[in-house]
Amino acid sequence: MALGYLSAMLKSAQAGKYAIAAFNIIDYNSARAVIDGAQEMNAPIIIQLSVKTIRLWGFKPIASWVHAFAADADVPVALHLDHCKDLDVIRGCIDAGWTSVMFDGSALPFDENVARSLEAYEIAQAAGVGLEAELGAIGGTEDDKFVAEDEAILADVDECIAFCAAMPKLATFAPAFGTAHGFYKGEPKIAYDRLERITAKVDIPIALHGGTGLTEQQFERCIQSGCAKVNISTMHKQQFIDGFADLRRKEPTNNEPIPYIAAQYDAMKSGVKQMIGLFGSDGKASVTAAR
Ligand code: 13P
Repeated sequence: MALGYLSAMLKSAQAGKYAIAAFNIIDYNSARAVIDGAQEMNAPIIIQLSVKTIRLWGFKPIASWVHAFAADADVPVALHLDHCKDLDVIRGCIDAGWTSVMFDGSALPFDENVARSLEAYEIAQAAGVGLEAELGAIGGTEDDKFVAEDEAILADVDECIAFCAAMPKLATFAPAFGTAHGFYKGEPKIAYDRLERITAKVDIPIALHGGTGLTEQQFERCIQSGCAKVNISTMHKQQFIDGFADLRRKEPTNNEPIPYIAAQYDAMKSGVKQMIGLFGSDGKASVTAAR
């Protein structure tokens, strides 16, 4: 089918109390593993890209892989841009065929974040694609962004209300509520009360950043509290590397590349299927609106 749109897909997930997995893909093989995993689970899926990965491969090649895989799949697939501060990259994605984008103004003072996010919102609205925007400071490392644990700031509930009121058609909203990018060092400090106070006042589906390393119970509670999109990057990258390295360790004299590509694919796809199972989106393809 044609690519799906984040807003419609996440509204279905929000209403059905499941979450759609959003994987930060790395290359062609990783995109294939994510979409095939979703297809095998009959689940909607979000392919998302960090700016660094787009700079490596280019807008058009990525869009052409994902459009081609989605065309052959029976499940809704959205193509999304993860954390981006550069409106030119946002425009480049939209021009190449992305169906949603994220503007990350979370490092800016509140008023400036609203003003800059609004610029991105208007660009996205005019193009008919979805926008994700962030408030507060999510800890950890993602792409070129690093927020130290003591600098992570939970989103303020009143600011969340004002932020979302300025952008009522936001496809998804990413308030910081204690999850963090990268591997958790120790127990994650998830502020469920903050998340629940936000979702009591804001009706926009919530994006959970920092999905790697959370437990089934933690996912379940966040999803029941309004998270409709769960981002997974670090785990996927680890499986990309381990899939290759494990085979090399097992078969040190195997110098044929294709088995390595197959091993990476299998490792990544099994992670995708595991996460879809945890997020309750397995079997939800037919009840997820694509546009
Ligand atoms: P992890 O790297 O912790 O999986 O987080 C991914 C993410 O939130 C991407 O924006």
